[in-house]
Amino acid sequence: MSKKLNVVILAAGKGTRMCSDIPKVLHQLAGVPLLGHVINAARQLAANKIIVVYGYGGEQVRQQFTHQNDLIWVEQAQQLGTGHALQQTVQHLDDDANTLVLLGDVPLVSVSACQQLIQGSHALGLMTVKKQQPDGYGRIVRDATGQVQAIVEHKDANDAQRKIDEVNTGIMTIHNVNLKTWLSQLTNHNAQGEYYLTDIIAMAVKQGYEVHTALAHDEMSVEGVNSKADLARLERVYQLRYAQHLMQQGVTLLDPQRIDVRGELQVGRDVQIDVGCIFEGTVTLGDRVKVGAYSIIKNSTIQQATQIQANCQIEDSKIGANCQIGPFARIRPNSTLEDEVHIGNFVELKNTHIQRASKANHLSYLGDSDIGSSVNIGAGTITCNYDGANKYRTVIEDGAFIGSDTQLVAPVTIGKNATIAAGSTITKDAPADQLTVCRAKQQISLPGWKRPVKKPKT
Ligand code: UD1
Ligand code: MG
Repeated sequence: MSKKLNVVILAAGKGTRMCSDIPKVLHQLAGVPLLGHVINAARQLAANKIIVVYGYGGEQVRQQFTHQNDLIWVEQAQQLGTGHALQQTVQHLDDDANTLVLLGDVPLVSVSACQQLIQGSHALGLMTVKKQQPDGYGRIVRDATGQVQAIVEHKDANDAQRKIDEVNTGIMTIHNVNLKTWLSQLTNHNAQGEYYLTDIIAMAVKQGYEVHTALAHDEMSVEGVNSKADLARLERVYQLRYAQHLMQQGVTLLDPQRIDVRGELQVGRDVQIDVGCIFEGTVTLGDRVKVGAYSIIKNSTIQQATQIQANCQIEDSKIGANCQIGPFARIRPNSTLEDEVHIGNFVELKNTHIQRASKANHLSYLGDSDIGSSVNIGAGTITCNYDGANKYRTVIEDGAFIGSDTQLVAPVTIGKNATIAAGSTITKDAPADQLTVCRAKQQISLPGWKRPVKKPKT
């Protein structure tokens, strides 16, 4: 081993069976394009070059990875086979390196299995797998002593070869000097009229090279995505594995089959997550955090012992310790809640900072606001932050009490320990420690008034 490593990821195919206008390798698994998973695996292998062969979907594929400057993109304008795809990369392959070929549609590729393959191989190494139903795959043909002789593609195989259950995964490693020679000798005289990369095996054997093989024990790690059904199946495999990883860290999952992590979930001790929750981007849950059923949390941090009740949405926000959130709360980007804050049902926050022990328990919109500590926001309070053109901030100082059904027309400041009478529309700053009332002047009752009744039909 210890040779330099070039990784080539084959990702030019269209993926006809996905029945989609989106190139196959851009379909997402756990929120990341299939190709993204393979690129991440390649990075973990410490390759000195990662070369991606793209074709179908062209620029669309490249654009998804624009800021990732460690990738070399090679276009294969016409998809004439896996060997033809490799031929396009030859100018980038280093003579003192081995190439590891990965497939852009095999998202659960195992880094450790690739490492083993690379370490055990000299001129040529193949990752193979045993399949109960090997139809469609290239068969590994061995001689009486067990030495690999060739890979024969399904469509070119005879009946005896089709009975072979050991198949090519498509993942292989080849010393570059040999690879370049063999690639230049490929022909397309076969059932599919394609330049098969797999033909290099027989060439190597003919020249006296021994082909090393590594059998993949984890079938899912070599499974390709060809259809939406495959995609859904691998998504479940990924998610169940992630769930197991969380449980190993002590998380209580009420049903490990019903959690989706599309990114990274960092957890403290004794975290509990109810069914149907989705975590996106990077989410951190502190010790003893509980997340209720069907909550969606994206790029946020929740500190210790906070309880998120069912059906909450939290995005790009920070929530302190010992808070009570939900059910049915929506916390939109750039909100910060300090410790012991209560946010109840049908309360929406956006770009709002709330200090310790304040409460907004029912039916409110608090946007672009700075709310002090121990503030009570009554039901139906709305910050009117937008005049149709610009947005303004609302400031509510410590200890203020906002009566129910109040509109706070920003920019406006409610002073420390101020009380706002229910049903007020506040357009000017309210002083500290006083009751501010702003309602229609009178409440009148009309003694002889009758409710209207339906007119009889004529
Ligand atoms: C290939 C292998 C087969 C193996 C199977 C495993 C060959 C000839 N056959 O068959 O032995 O069992 O994978 O799944 O290699 N691609 C390109 N450019 C092309 C053709 C393909 O980039 O011109 C890419 C595809 O996007 C895909 C990969 O190569 O990621 C495999 O191509 P695919 O057409 O699926 O090959 P198979 O016929 O399945
Ligand atoms: Mg295939």
